Amino acid sequence: MTATYETLLVEREGPIGIISFNRPKALNALNAMMLRELTLALRELGEGADAVRAIILTGSGEKAFVAGADIAEMAPMGAWAGREFSQLGHIATALMEALPCAMIAAINGFALGGGLEMALACDLIYCSENARLGQPEVNLGVVPGFGGSQRLPRLLGKMRAKELLFTGDMIDAKKAHEIGLVLDVLPKDQLLAHCKNVAQKIATKGPLAIARVKQLVEHGADVPLRDANHQECDTFGLLFDTDDRREGMRAFVEKRPATFTRK
Ligand code: CAA
Repeated sequence: MTATYETLLVEREGPIGIISFNRPKALNALNAMMLRELTLALRELGEGADAVRAIILTGSGEKAFVAGADIAEMAPMGAWAGREFSQLGHIATALMEALPCAMIAAINGFALGGGLEMALACDLIYCSENARLGQPEVNLGVVPGFGGSQRLPRLLGKMRAKELLFTGDMIDAKKAHEIGLVLDVLPKDQLLAHCKNVAQKIATKGPLAIARVKQLVEHGADVPLRDANHQECDTFGLLFDTDDRREGMRAFVEKRPATFTRK
């Protein structure tokens, strides 16, 4: 049983959690309540002894993943309220990168502004053929507020990112795949099943290894290569003292699947 949320649907299927942004009438636009609930839902699913191994983010309804931050809610904000709103998005996205499980974005329609920024904080991004992606904040006279100005250039390179950030253009799924913004494009009715398959595969692997390799990639991106390689060495060594490492190698020798216990 998961808690009840006003702006999200949260489900658990064995080792997989699914969070659906659930304001379909407003194309799942992110308001402050949704951002707060997202942080709670991520913690509910992704932390503790019975944490899931992967969380899929997707959107309710036929049209959108998330069409951005809620413009109606933002319209009357002043500088301080705007900053606080941005901070809520940064808290949720930082948590996605810090959680030990895999985060998978299943973009099933519009992923614009804050919506694309939610996906950019995920470990893996897949989209459906009808997806439309972009950072249209400049149309509204603002910049991205949930990390898009930083995560997009890190993913695509500065020039591609600036093209999207300067023009506010919406690109289709084919183009998003071409420029490396999404891993694969799926027919709409196969997107979630594909993401669940990927999540199931990850769930069979060593949980401590997944948590640590995610941490290595995330931390490694911000430190010099020599320091990052030291971190890898330390982590590699540390994992040798775990039951999961012993089980993983024993299972290989005994030619059977490993049973990991997160110890
Ligand atoms: N905020 C609030 N409401 C939104 C919304 C948003 N970001 N996007 C869509 N909606 C609402 C519309 O106002 C409309 O509501 P009503 O039925 O009450 O009028 C409903 O969702 C359906 O939208 P449309 O009628 O506009 O649907 P469409 O198919 O004609 O167009 C769209 C779809 C192109 C996505 C268009 O809705 C649109 O341009 N939305 C805004 C996209 C945008 O600018 N996003 C960035 C927001 S800023 C941001 O995200 C900042 C940040 O980084 C934190």
